[in-house]
Amino acid sequence: MLAIRLVVDPATSDTVVLPVHPGGDAAAATTAVTALHLPADALAEAAALLATAENADAAGAVQPLPRPLRIPSRLLLVGIGTGDEAAWRSAGAALARTCTGETSVTIAMPVDASPRAVRGLAEGLWLASYRFRMPDADTDPPTLREIAVAVADAAPYEGALAAARTTARATRLARDLTNTPSSLKNPAWFAAEVEAAAAEHPGLSVTVREPAQLAAEGFGGILAVGRGSARGPRLVELAWRPEEAGATPKHVVLIGKGITFDTGGISIKPRDAMKLMRKDMGGAAAVIAATIGAAALRLPVRVTALAPLAENMVSGSAFRPGDVIRHYNGVTSETTNSDAEGRLVLADALAYAVDRLAPDVLIDLATLTGANAVALGKRTAALYSENGELAGSVVAAADEAGERAWRMPLATDYVEYLGSELADLYSAPDRGAGSVTAALFLREFTGALRDRWVHIDMSAPSWAEGNDGELTKGATGWGARTLLRWLATVTS
Ligand code: BES
Ligand code: MN
Ligand code: ZN
Repeated sequence: MLAIRLVVDPATSDTVVLPVHPGGDAAAATTAVTALHLPADALAEAAALLATAENADAAGAVQPLPRPLRIPSRLLLVGIGTGDEAAWRSAGAALARTCTGETSVTIAMPVDASPRAVRGLAEGLWLASYRFRMPDADTDPPTLREIAVAVADAAPYEGALAAARTTARATRLARDLTNTPSSLKNPAWFAAEVEAAAAEHPGLSVTVREPAQLAAEGFGGILAVGRGSARGPRLVELAWRPEEAGATPKHVVLIGKGITFDTGGISIKPRDAMKLMRKDMGGAAAVIAATIGAAALRLPVRVTALAPLAENMVSGSAFRPGDVIRHYNGVTSETTNSDAEGRLVLADALAYAVDRLAPDVLIDLATLTGANAVALGKRTAALYSENGELAGSVVAAADEAGERAWRMPLATDYVEYLGSELADLYSAPDRGAGSVTAALFLREFTGALRDRWVHIDMSAPSWAEGNDGELTKGATGWGARTLLRWLATVTS
């Protein structure tokens, strides 16, 4: 990972970055740089460029100023817009993309920069410089290796930089898990990755249930979806228990859909719709990453992540449309479409959490429906909750984290669509509002937690079709950032 260091007396570097405030003239840009002892000609050139450049202050705008054979040999004027955390995140992302392959870069922070400016800058730099590599890759792709952040005094910024580092690491873990091709990634592989990652932090424990155990305990949804694959299903339970917190810290249970590949099963997907279905465990990746992040930050909240994992395949042993499944709590569902598999594994995990884990809050994340993108487009998750205050707090955390979620209605008049003659519920009614009816199905498994439950359908924002701000093409790790921010606000 890119090395970001806070420095008080920076050495000379090849590239110096000057932040540009709104309406910023050279004077504004140079309030930052006294510590850098830039030569007068460099400041004069920056001032001349700023006098003519348009929108140089827009967040993430970069104006290069080459100075061949002089020191520094390049200035970069980078716009910081309103100067809030999001604007600094954009600036950081733009820098990471501009400075690919450079070795010595220093950014001169404004003398009055807030800790949140440093957090945004660092997260933008780290998130945008992410590259996925196969475990056996032997070459490193070119990316910025090291950057010095010049400040008047490092102490006020150290906490913000540490929070950014944990956030970036959690997001990287979620992205790595999600980008991994399904030739490697299967339920057992995912469980082993969680065990390896958890071993790095004291206070984390992992339990993995294999098919025999799942059968003995009645996890009918996970078993049905996993039946068609030679690579059997698992249920991973990752727990963070803070020692320092009071006697009864709040207990948050996070559940993530973990379909390691979704062919659609017998109701098979068309080929284009199947191409990227290795990403169908993005929810599981995010809840695992956020829980590990909570342990890394030693947050005073108890967190249990559940990842119901299965590969939805087409085979002679696959479950069929019309099958009736008995879920963990005894509720039955009639499979209308084997491609609506996510809700079946989530139903078991929700019921298990309600029955056995006594959570204070229950949050599930899932790449659940194509309807998420139909309603809200590429970068916005659909959020459902009966509890307005809880919904608002998660939407706000997403906003601050640089992800986006929008609350959708659990419309009561659609509940009747779930009525089945064979079972308690239809799994997927197919009468429109696909993301809403999926949420209504899940709600049936929340029991006494119904008012303290949040469901997030994050199919759309889990993947980026190209580099976009702090997102690198491929898995975005959507949810790791939001959940970590939100967990940091939970107090006993
Ligand atoms: N994993 C898919 C949803 C999905 C679609 C995620 C596109 C990311 C991008 C899910 O299992 C699925 O197939 N959903 C169906 C539900 C339908 C059969 C009721 C869908 O959305 O078409
Ligand atoms: Mn599916
Ligand atoms: Zn799926």
